[in-house]
Amino acid sequence: MLRPMSMQVIKTLADMRALPKQQRRAVVMTMGALHDGHRALLRRARQWAGPEGELLVTVFVNPLQFAAGEDFDRYPRTWQHDLSMCAEEGATTVFAPDADDMFSSDQDIVVDPGPLGKVFEGISRPNHFAGVLTVVAKLMNLTRADAAAFGEKDYQQLTLIKRMVQQLEIPVEVLSVPIERDADGLALSSRNQYLSAAERRAARTLPAALEVAIATAAGGGVVADVIAAVEKELTVAEVVVPDYIAVTGADLGPPTRQGEARILIAATVGGTRLLDNAALRWETL
Ligand code: PAF
Repeated sequence: MLRPMSMQVIKTLADMRALPKQQRRAVVMTMGALHDGHRALLRRARQWAGPEGELLVTVFVNPLQFAAGEDFDRYPRTWQHDLSMCAEEGATTVFAPDADDMFSSDQDIVVDPGPLGKVFEGISRPNHFAGVLTVVAKLMNLTRADAAAFGEKDYQQLTLIKRMVQQLEIPVEVLSVPIERDADGLALSSRNQYLSAAERRAARTLPAALEVAIATAAGGGVVADVIAAVEKELTVAEVVVPDYIAVTGADLGPPTRQGEARILIAATVGGTRLLDNAALRWETL
């Protein structure tokens, strides 16, 4: 085990609350099954905290953000591997509570994500973002971190966390970390391991469609052109079933005539739900 002497594992809320805070503290919240996308978050958080600062990692598969019939039970659990990666990236503490401790009383107070929680992912996963924001707020309070790193891969989640922190005056700096991709372009996700080899090949149509979207926008296309081009690209593989394709502003509001926009794609590939997104730049809409 590569764990340095200084990395401690905390399993209870009581021990987490009792952890003395000595330095700048950054946190990376995860559901485990760590991959190189998480590694990028750990590096960004470590960079923010500085060599003397504290880097906390939370590992908790949050039942509140899974609906009945989703993959809560089969979500990959890779504890020893996760600990090794945390140690390699200089984590000082790993906090891995169990669900009974996290939600020991009836958790009937939840964070309402507002209208932005009801669109895109919120349509097919109606209570998902209330579950995410509730656990993120709780982990921010428990860890008392000064900064928290989240990936752009889950762009709606990142945007909602920024809005929650701003609107509820939570004293945490949110660090946005760009998407990490495999050599074939697929955005890294713990759920990629559900894909068969054939599905994995088909899933490459998502990043390919984003490339087409970027080129269409840069070449003078309007929103409808971008969406049509993405739809066409996604139909190349029959096993890819698009859920939504959306062009928005960088804050997920309506796209404006200038500045950065975002293209979001959600699709099911052989039963596995995949998300991807990219920044778009254009002169005219
Ligand atoms: O992005 C994730 O892994 C989860 O949604 C998070 C932020 C750890 C909350 O459970």
